[in-house]
Amino acid sequence: MLKGKVAVVTGASKGIGRAIAVELAKNGADIVINYCSSEKAAKDLKKIIEDLGSKAVLCCCDVSVPEQSKALIDLAVNEFGKIDILVNNAGIGLAPPSALDISNEDFAKVIDINLKGTFYCSMEAIKEMMKNKSGKIIGISSSAVEQPRGGTAAYSASKSGVELLMRSLAQEFGPYGINVNTVAPGPTETEMLKDFFTPERKKEVESGIPLRRLATPKDIAKAVLFLATDQSEYITGQKILVDGGRTIR
Ligand SMILES: NC(=O)c1ccc[n+]([C@@H]2O[C@H](COP(=O)([O-])OP(=O)(O)OC[C@H]3O[C@@H](n4cnc5c(N)ncnc54)[C@H](O)[C@@H]3O)[C@@H](O)[C@H]2O)c1
Repeated sequence: MLKGKVAVVTGASKGIGRAIAVELAKNGADIVINYCSSEKAAKDLKKIIEDLGSKAVLCCCDVSVPEQSKALIDLAVNEFGKIDILVNNAGIGLAPPSALDISNEDFAKVIDINLKGTFYCSMEAIKEMMKNKSGKIIGISSSAVEQPRGGTAAYSASKSGVELLMRSLAQEFGPYGINVNTVAPGPTETEMLKDFFTPERKKEVESGIPLRRLATPKDIAKAVLFLATDQSEYITGQKILVDGGRTIR
């Protein structure tokens, strides 16, 4: 489905980003693996992708720094000649008990990585995609936008910003053949939530999910795959909640 396509996945060395990179590669895409720590994990992922028959290059950079985001997209274009798919997956979580516990510095850091990083990478990618009159931009938000709690103030604000950013870009760049959508994961079993999910808490959260389990990274990757292929050709400015029904109202 994605043979000949080039995908950049940010924060790809572990968790959801890794699953997305593997899913896109399984379907034929060549992958630019962005990471900012865990070099070994990034190298392992490169090997997995190559074993699947796709090409992969590594790019160590911090998406919250505009020059580094530009370097990431430039690398994709220099290596592969174009960029077809950008998945803005890199992100950090922050959920102290109360918004009163969030320092100004931490608030700024969450916005810098989750929201500004998504903006910087998307704008650089869009400039390239406009030349080819086609492209897919995917933002990763969170079900926390639907169900924000006090301690997630910074995180929820950053992710709701991602959703509005994606919708705004969808409006503006649709005429250039660029689809811009969002995947909003519910609680997913990755390192981000490993301290939060004690066995008791996991049970409690699962009991509030109609499908009665947390998401796996692969669940999220499958929704991203749909938005990255022509299966979703006529869909733009939309959000897919992948949360087992947790936020059904
Ligand atoms: N795990 C969940 O329950 C959950 C739920 C909703 C949304 N999400 C979102 O999914 C995405 C992936 O989360 P995850 O659970 O896999 O987390 P994770 O912590 O396992 O992975 C996050 C990745 O982002 C990278 N990253 C962080 N800051 C970066 C920066 N400045 N530049 C480049 N890379 C950076 C990390 O190195 C890591 O590879 C995030 O955007 C997160 O907010 C996760």
